[in-house]
Amino acid sequence: MERCTRCEICTDQCRVAEELAGTFKALGDLNRLKIITFLAADTTGTLGVGDLAARLGISQPAVSQHLKTLKSAGLIESRKIGFHVYFTFNRERMSRFREQFDQISTSVLDRCDREFLRAKSPELKNSCVIYHSFTGTTRSVAEKVRDFCGGDLVEVTPKRNYGTFTAYTTGCLRSRNGDLDPIVPDLIDVSPYSLLVIGTPVWAWRSTPAINAAVAALSNSEGKRAVIFATCSGQVGEALTQLRRALEARGVTVIGEVTFTKRDLLDLDRTNDLIRRIISACSAESPDQREMKTMKTPESGEDLS
Ligand SMILES: Cc1cc2nc3c(=O)[nH]c(=O)nc-3n(C[C@H](O)[C@H](O)[C@H](O)COP(=O)(O)O)c2cc1C
Repeated sequence: MERCTRCEICTDQCRVAEELAGTFKALGDLNRLKIITFLAADTTGTLGVGDLAARLGISQPAVSQHLKTLKSAGLIESRKIGFHVYFTFNRERMSRFREQFDQISTSVLDRCDREFLRAKSPELKNSCVIYHSFTGTTRSVAEKVRDFCGGDLVEVTPKRNYGTFTAYTTGCLRSRNGDLDPIVPDLIDVSPYSLLVIGTPVWAWRSTPAINAAVAALSNSEGKRAVIFATCSGQVGEALTQLRRALEARGVTVIGEVTFTKRDLLDLDRTNDLIRRIISACSAESPDQREMKTMKTPESGEDLS
């Protein structure tokens, strides 16, 4: 099927919506929905039009009409053996329906979570996601986190051009040594932000020379809070410890650390779960906020929060 060109990036949502609308229309009738549940609960597989009519308290032609609608929506199938007509479900259609509905409800729930977290933690909007990515994995996580928080995104790129070979030779050696690569941008002023989210790929069990340089390039970082994350094949090694220490040396308090392995990234639920961990670490109250909440006004004894 040809993809439409109405959205900038086609995610196939209009086609999915059309298919779902047809299914909902077929299911949007009390008797038809009851037929589906009766057929699903029938362990004998012999429930026929007459039985359904008796259970629903409607005529057999009315039941036949409902069955026809369910059949044209592709939800059920019938086969005739002798004088009997037996009904079965179209499993493929039913599981596609579930997948499509899951897709919509997941994005609706994500949106609800996002709004809830943003309302609970207005400082999320005031966050900056800083990352390095060689093959795009860390970038995709960073973009998801930014979409959730609504803050800014800063990608740092090394000025030296790594290829696959030089990444594994020079790059790994420089990572092991904790070296800093010259990067673009060479200065990252974080004064407008109250929260930093910093992400690195793992190279030779360490953070990359580019992200090491990004930490050194922070200006006005004293007193900021950060959540750090690493993406790797499965062995994070010292990468996050090293990154945390470097940030602490710049006066940043690291309030959360999350690792994404290749396996985590293959599973959308797991990835979203880890992204939620980043966001909930971000929404943890700072000691200042906690102090403000417990302060009382001298006259009224009311909470200031
Ligand atoms: C030079 C190099 C070294 C790597 N070293 C490790 C490692 O020590 N441990 C590990 O689990 N993965 C390692 N990996 C895999 C990457 O950390 C992983 O694929 C990461 O998600 C890539 O992120 P990116 O796509 O944002 O660059 C290495 C990859 C490269 C290119």
